[in-house]
Amino acid sequence: MDRSDLFLRACAGEVTESKPVWVMRQAGRYLPEYMKVRNSFPSFTDFYKNPEACAEVTWQPIERFGFDAAIMFSDILTLLEPMGVDLEFVKGKGPVISNPVRTLDDMERITSVDVEKDLDFVGGAVKAIKKRLDGRVPLMGFAGGPLTVGSYIIEGGSSKDLSLTKKMAFSRDPIYKLLMDQLAATTVEYLKFQIASGVDAVVVMDSWAGHFSREEYREFVFPYTQKIIAEIQLSESVPVIHYANGASNLYPVMQDLGADVLGVDWRVSLNEIIAECPDMTYQGNLDPCMLYAPNAEIERRTREILEIVKDRPHIMNLGHGVTPTMPISGVETFVKTIQGR
Ligand code: CP3
Repeated sequence: MDRSDLFLRACAGEVTESKPVWVMRQAGRYLPEYMKVRNSFPSFTDFYKNPEACAEVTWQPIERFGFDAAIMFSDILTLLEPMGVDLEFVKGKGPVISNPVRTLDDMERITSVDVEKDLDFVGGAVKAIKKRLDGRVPLMGFAGGPLTVGSYIIEGGSSKDLSLTKKMAFSRDPIYKLLMDQLAATTVEYLKFQIASGVDAVVVMDSWAGHFSREEYREFVFPYTQKIIAEIQLSESVPVIHYANGASNLYPVMQDLGADVLGVDWRVSLNEIIAECPDMTYQGNLDPCMLYAPNAEIERRTREILEIVKDRPHIMNLGHGVTPTMPISGVETFVKTIQGR
């Protein structure tokens, strides 16, 4: 069976004969072939600035597992350096920003980004990946949602509760809006650049939006993400997928974002989300940790999801990304169960 168009047909709202599948972080440290390429670079930033290396690791999981879509190898934080925000990925700690934005002075030193020039390595990666994939599966580009990217810039790194970000928003500090407006405008340009370089779909990853209540999400997060999606849809013809983690309370608002597909994490039953907001196409939602379970259990839980979505357009995925210690055999079982192999 030719599966190469399943992903884009599902994005367009079609009930496909078999569900397309990809997983977040499918190119990553759980794969020995990824580690081999990764270890040839001194830092993660050197790695994602190398188009040939990006093409190699984007292609690896397609080749190994037969996923139905590829996602370009990059990061949501590529925007930071050109904005004048110092970013370092520290082993065991994640992203660390030595000059976070907390005051008006901090905000004034933020520079505007010329995406074609400052992020030319991303355009180069997209072209190299397309060549490597040679039409085998569609390619997704992506960017972070303004709230999620902004939270790293404000907090100075990963945060468990986004308290500095929320403090800035809820105290109506004008810096919050300035930063979100700038991130939204830059992200529109960035995604358009990825599309011009050749991606077939884009994902807006607003991973940490689930920290907000429905009311505050609508006021402090939604307007910026919605602007990005609306502007892409106005001038481009590729589908937009939106992903947020731990955001089961937000679907009635997120459905108004206008995205073609909404990602769903594992904490919520797809049945409940579908009952609440039936007119959307969803993506998800196996708990990534289920990949540690015996294969029979992975198969059983995957089939349960397939049963729920059998008469709907749907993209199979995990509820969040695969992590370094997850077994390759678990990913294999997940994909084979969906593809009927
Ligand atoms: O295969 C793919 O999914 C494509 C590549 C991709 C990466 N990051 C590679 C990466 C994608 C789509 C992302 C998105 C991303 N990055 C998000 C949104 C999705 C999500 O996971 O919620 C976020 C929040 C980030 C920020 C980020 N990048 C963090 C917090 C970290 C460190 C934590 C970690 O997992 O190590 C990164 C680094 C990163 N991005 C790695 C990879 C493969 C690990 C770095 C390494 O290999 O040394």
